[in-house]
Amino acid sequence: MRAIILFDSKTAGGSTEQLIDSIGLELAKTGAYVEKAKCKTTGDYNFVKDFDVVIMGAPIYYLLVSSQLLGALIQSNLKSYLADKKVALFLTCGSPELMANLLYLPQLKMNLIGNKVLVEKIFSPQQLSDASTIESFIHELNEAYNIENQ
Ligand SMILES: Cc1cc2nc3c(=O)[nH]c(=O)nc-3n(C[C@H](O)[C@H](O)[C@H](O)COP(=O)(O)O)c2cc1C
Repeated sequence: MRAIILFDSKTAGGSTEQLIDSIGLELAKTGAYVEKAKCKTTGDYNFVKDFDVVIMGAPIYYLLVSSQLLGALIQSNLKSYLADKKVALFLTCGSPELMANLLYLPQLKMNLIGNKVLVEKIFSPQQLSDASTIESFIHELNEAYNIENQ
């Protein structure tokens, strides 16, 4: 599997970036090739075509998915390069999971066009550095990916 983690956070080296590094390491342990890229609304996402799984994640600030990831999905060519890609989604936030599933995840999902979502996950502050939560996220991702590729 070749996976790219597209992310945004306003906090350099903050909780989201730390989580992304843990996700990347855990996925690499399973034999995947993993890269990460911080999103810009005005970016050129041509490089996404070199990957078969696109993992997208960001924190919530004031009820919205961090602006550069959301902006890239809405305004850049990312959406067109995502066509036919398998995706995985995650968010980091302080709200309860139910609220996050209802209010925050749809902000990402409404910008996908028929993509297969392999796994989606809300990481609570307590789960950000919890090895078993990260392992099960990667396990679910790999299982769904393998089923899709059978
Ligand atoms: C300014 C600010 C606004 C936030 N707004 C929300 C919010 O509306 N809903 C929520 O669930 N969490 C909110 N959070 C919590 C963050 O989403 C959470 O702490 C996240 O892990 C921060 O990621 P970061 O360390 O990469 O910035 C907010 C945090 C900050 C600092």
